[in-house]
Amino acid sequence: MFWFAIGLSSAFPVHGGNRFQEAQRLGCRPEQLLDASASLVPFPPSRPLRRCLNRALTDCTLRDYPDRHHHHLREAIAHWHGVDPAMVLPGNGAAELFTWVARDAALQGVSGLPVPGFADYRRALLCWQGSLQTFPLPLSWSAEAPQPFPLRPDVDVLWITNPHNPTGQLWSRASLEPLLERYRLVICDEAFLPLVPDGERQSLVPIVGEHSNLVVIRSLTKLFAVAGLRLGYAIGTQERLQRWQQWRDPWPLNGFAIAAGTALMTDRSALERWMTRVQQWVTREGLWMHAQLSELSGIRPHPSAANFLLISSDASLVPLRERMAHRRVLLRDCRSFIELGEHWLRIGLQQRPGNRRIVAALRDLLS
Ligand SMILES: Cc1ncc(COP(=O)(O)O)c(C=O)c1O
Repeated sequence: MFWFAIGLSSAFPVHGGNRFQEAQRLGCRPEQLLDASASLVPFPPSRPLRRCLNRALTDCTLRDYPDRHHHHLREAIAHWHGVDPAMVLPGNGAAELFTWVARDAALQGVSGLPVPGFADYRRALLCWQGSLQTFPLPLSWSAEAPQPFPLRPDVDVLWITNPHNPTGQLWSRASLEPLLERYRLVICDEAFLPLVPDGERQSLVPIVGEHSNLVVIRSLTKLFAVAGLRLGYAIGTQERLQRWQQWRDPWPLNGFAIAAGTALMTDRSALERWMTRVQQWVTREGLWMHAQLSELSGIRPHPSAANFLLISSDASLVPLRERMAHRRVLLRDCRSFIELGEHWLRIGLQQRPGNRRIVAALRDLLS
């Protein structure tokens, strides 16, 4: 299992979404578990996605080497965002691209990481012995969306997650733009942004062309629930992305991921419909979940603009997480998030029946 050691004395899962390992540990089948520890859209795969993957089994996708320049995929992504295809680099998940952007970051100086935050940035920086400093975000925040980014750390490189994981805060573009004058490199991870109602208005993608020190990283993992495909992309200057292309494996993306990504990003109206459906689900279920959780004793739900939310308690929530797991509901252990710990859990939104199941199990265990 993928563990992250803190102080080498204890080990916690660094990531959610360990359904297979958890099923083995709990003695059940993976499909019996409701996995709210990873934050993926809970809809079945879209029709264009299924059609394209079926086709890929019978054409040459499996047999042939993939296009190492990802020509069609880059064009489709570039067209969707209205940028030059030379400014797009598809990756084997956003995670692969963090590795390369971290190499640039390590050369620029000290990286500033807001905490609690996504642990993979640290992993990527450590690949290149990059220096980093963490900066705590206030652990109490409003429901305002968007809201101003609260930190101005004294570092060379700033890593931003918009919306922030794990808090679900949506940062306003107006508060992020001035940061581009202040830092040698700004890395903005927008992995969850297309899921956030009205979130795209806060994206930094439209200004990448004006700022050579800005890289935006996106992921298709959450939006299309395709964590197994490994599909993300970076938007940055052509010169920077060409450099990364020279550093990486010859075929970092497999043919199925390239075919799926191209199909998903090419059909503009299908993509718009999917995003609308996803954002309506986040609005509806986010409000419902927050209201339901507010009525439970012993826990506090925190506001979120995204498809996940944090709960906290004065008591340790580790036993509650374990008892939920025995009821076959997985919640995200937050002990691996610096600044959070055992008093926090993260819940990924589901469709209504799944959300009812989470609330019912929590109500039962907390009463
Ligand atoms: C904020 C954030 N960015 C990126 C990723 C990783 O995305 P991918 O699956 O494309 O590597 C995650 C995964 O949990 C995440 O939480």
